[in-house]
Amino acid sequence: MKKYLKYDEWCVIEDGFDPANHQASESIFSIGNGKMGQRANFEEKYTGDSLQGSYIAGVYYPDKTRVGWWKNGYPEYFAKVLNSPNWIGINVNIDGFELDLNTCKIDSFTRTLNMKEGFLQREFGATLNDGKKVLVKTRRFVSMADTENGAIRYSVTPINFSGKISFTPYIDGDIVNEDSNYDEQFWNVLDVQAAEGFAYLESQTKKSDFRCGFAMKYLIKLNEKPQKTNAEVVQLNKWVGNKVELEVKEGETASIEKYVGVTSSLNYTTGELKSKAEELASYACHKGFDQMFEDHRSKWAEKWVHSDIKIKGDVAAQQGIRFNIFHLNQTYTGEDERLNVGPKGFTGEKYGGTTYWDTEAYCVPFFLMTAPSEVTRQLLIYRYKHLPRAIENAAKLGFKDGAALYPMVTANGEECHNEWEITFEEIHRNGAIAFAIHNYIRHTGDKKYLEEYGLEVLVGISRFWSQRITFSEARQKYVMLGVTGPNEYENNINNNWYTNKMATWCLKYTQEALAHVKSAAPARYDELVAKMSFKEEETNRWQDIVDRMHFPYNEELKVFMQQDGFMDKEQVMADDLDPAERPINQHWSWDRILRSNFIKQADTLQGIYVLEEEFSDEEIERNFNFYEPRTVHESSLSPCVHSVMAAKIGRTEKAYEMYLRTSRLDLDDYNAEVHEGLHITSMAGTWMSIVEGFGGKRAYDEKLYLTPTIPNEWEEYAFRITFKGKDLEVRVNAKEVEIISHATLPAELFVYGKPVMVEPKKSITISR
Ligand code: BGC
Repeated sequence: MKKYLKYDEWCVIEDGFDPANHQASESIFSIGNGKMGQRANFEEKYTGDSLQGSYIAGVYYPDKTRVGWWKNGYPEYFAKVLNSPNWIGINVNIDGFELDLNTCKIDSFTRTLNMKEGFLQREFGATLNDGKKVLVKTRRFVSMADTENGAIRYSVTPINFSGKISFTPYIDGDIVNEDSNYDEQFWNVLDVQAAEGFAYLESQTKKSDFRCGFAMKYLIKLNEKPQKTNAEVVQLNKWVGNKVELEVKEGETASIEKYVGVTSSLNYTTGELKSKAEELASYACHKGFDQMFEDHRSKWAEKWVHSDIKIKGDVAAQQGIRFNIFHLNQTYTGEDERLNVGPKGFTGEKYGGTTYWDTEAYCVPFFLMTAPSEVTRQLLIYRYKHLPRAIENAAKLGFKDGAALYPMVTANGEECHNEWEITFEEIHRNGAIAFAIHNYIRHTGDKKYLEEYGLEVLVGISRFWSQRITFSEARQKYVMLGVTGPNEYENNINNNWYTNKMATWCLKYTQEALAHVKSAAPARYDELVAKMSFKEEETNRWQDIVDRMHFPYNEELKVFMQQDGFMDKEQVMADDLDPAERPINQHWSWDRILRSNFIKQADTLQGIYVLEEEFSDEEIERNFNFYEPRTVHESSLSPCVHSVMAAKIGRTEKAYEMYLRTSRLDLDDYNAEVHEGLHITSMAGTWMSIVEGFGGKRAYDEKLYLTPTIPNEWEEYAFRITFKGKDLEVRVNAKEVEIISHATLPAELFVYGKPVMVEPKKSITISR
C-alpha cells in the first residue's frame, strides 16, 4: 500500500514530487470525457520514467496474438487500447535551459485532480541549473461539453531574473505503446502540416486503419494580455509544432493557452478529418479557455447532481467514493453505442480490449441508477449489435443454429482473448449479458426493449447454453463440464455452481421473454421467429435443463459448492496464509494456485448476489461464512460483492472493511499496480457497496426496496438514485432514513419491507 495523497472531499492532491510515485500519479490524475482521455503526463519535457497515455475511445490495434502453444479456436489478435499521438506537449525553454523536472531542482510541487469540476492542475517552483527560479502553473481538461476538444493553460513566472522564455506547443505522432506484443509501432503518421499559430497531424493505426486528426491553435499572453508573437514553425516527419519566444521580466507571467481538436474516422470521413479538427481547434480558441471551462464545469455539475454520494464524518471514504464515481463518469457517457467501459478506461494500456463481462456485471448497475436510462440502453445495444459476431464466435468453437457466445474480451464483437481457460471456458460472461437485459427492464420498466433488441440476444445465448450443457446418464442430471467460473484460480472444472445457475436462470428468463413478446407484440414476435429461424420446440429442452440441472451442494454444511469436488481440496483459510506470500498470484506457481482452495474473486457469492431473491437469509449467511474466509480477493471485482453480501446479513463491520478495500484500491494502491492504470470497472463495485450494501437497495419484481444500515465510522451518508424515471435522494444516519423526492410523480417504494409513498418534491423520514 502506498499512501502519499492528501485527503480532501473533492480533490486528489499530491504535495511534493517523488519520481517514484510519478507513474502512479499519471494514472490516478487521468482525465477524460467518454470520447478521449489522457494520463497525467507532464506537458513540458520529462526525461524521468513515465507511461505516456493518450487515448481515443473506440480506436484499437489488433496486435498479433502471442502464445506459447497455439490452439485451434484462438483469436488471431488481441485488440489493444492504444496510446495515440501526444497532443498535450508544450516544451518550455527558460533562457537557454529546457524545463525538465527530472533535471532541475524542484522547490515546490502540487498536483491536483479537481473531481467536482473535472480538471487537472499543477503548480510548482523549480530552480534551473543556472540558478534561475520559475513558478509554473498549469491547468488542463478534456471538455465534457465540447467533447472533441482539449484545452491547456500553462504559465511561467520568473522569480529571480528577467529573460527569454519560449513555449513550443506540438503534436507528436512518433509514439510507442508499452503493451505491444512484437515491439511494433502501432501508428503510421499520414500528414503533418504547420503554419504560424497552427499545427496538424494525422495518424493511422496499422491494420485496423483508424485515422485520427489532431489540430492545435494557441494564444500567448503576457500578464494576461494577448501578445502578437512571431512563431517559428517546426515540422518533422512525425512531429509538428510552433516555437514562440517572449522577453519576460522578473515577476511577470508568460502563458500559453493550447487548444486542440481531435477527430477520428469513427465520426468523420477521411476527407473531413483535417478540416473538422482545424474547425474544432479554432472554435475552442475563439471561445476561450474560461468559457470552455465554464461549459465543461457545468456538465460536471449536472453529472454530480445525479451520481454523487455524500459521506459525513469520514473524509477518506468520501474522497474514495467520489474518485470512483468521477472516473466512471469520465470513462463512459453513453453518447455512442459503439463505445464501452474498458477495465482500465483511459488510464493505461494493460488488459486490452474495451469490453469485458465487467460492463454488465458491475457497470450496468451503476449507470442504471445514476444516469438517464438511455445510457444503459446504449450499453445493451452495443451487445445487440455484436450478436452476429457472438454467433460467429460460437460457430468457431463448433456451436450451431444461432447459438451465441459473447467474447470474454473484445473491441468489436470478435473474441480477442487468447488463454484457453478463459477464451473457451469462462463462458459465464453470457449469463451476465443476459441478466443485464432483465436488470435494465426491472429498473426502467422498458419492456419494449425485449421486442426491439433483447429477445434476439436472449435466444442466441439460450441456444448456446442448451448446446453447451450435456446430460449425464450417471447422474440422470444435466451438467456443464470443463468451465472456468469467475474465480479464475480454478480451471476446467465441472459444474461451476455460478455458471450453472446463470445458465438455467437465462433459459427460464428467455422463455418468459418469448411469452411476453408473443402476447404484447404478436406481429413482431412472428417477424423475430422468422428472423431467428426459431422453433418453439427449442424451449422443451431448455425447460428440461431448468428442471434437471445439477447444482453441487454439500448436505453436511448446507452450502452450495463452487464446483464438483471442491471439498476434496485441502481446506485452508486465507487468514492462515503467510502475509509474505500474498498476493498468491505473485508468489505461488500457477499449479499450486489451481490445486489450492483459494478463491480469487466472488464466485458462488457472485451468483447469490445476482439472484439474491432466490435464497433465504440463512442460506446467504451460511454461504458467506463458508466462502469469505477462503477468498483472497485478488481481483478488484471481488471485495465489493462480499461487501454487499456482508451488509445483507448484518455484518456491517465486515462490509465496511470490504468497502474500504474497494473504494481506495487505486488511491492507496492496494495491489501495487496502479502505475499501469486504474481499475475502472471495479469502481462501479464501490458504488454498489454503498447503495446496494449499506443502502440495501434492491429492485425485485420491478419494485424498489431499501434497507439502509450505516457503518459506525460514518455520521451520515446520502445517495441519489433514479428508479423507473423517478429521481430520489436517500439520506441515512444512525437514527433515521430520509427520502427526498425530486420526481414529478408520486414514488412508491419499500423501506425496511414496509410500503412508503413519497409525493413529488416532498420528503419522508423513517426512524431506524
Ligand atoms: C478478473 C475478471 C475481469 C478482468 C478484467 C480479471 O482479473 O478475474 O473477472 O473480467 O480482470 O477486469
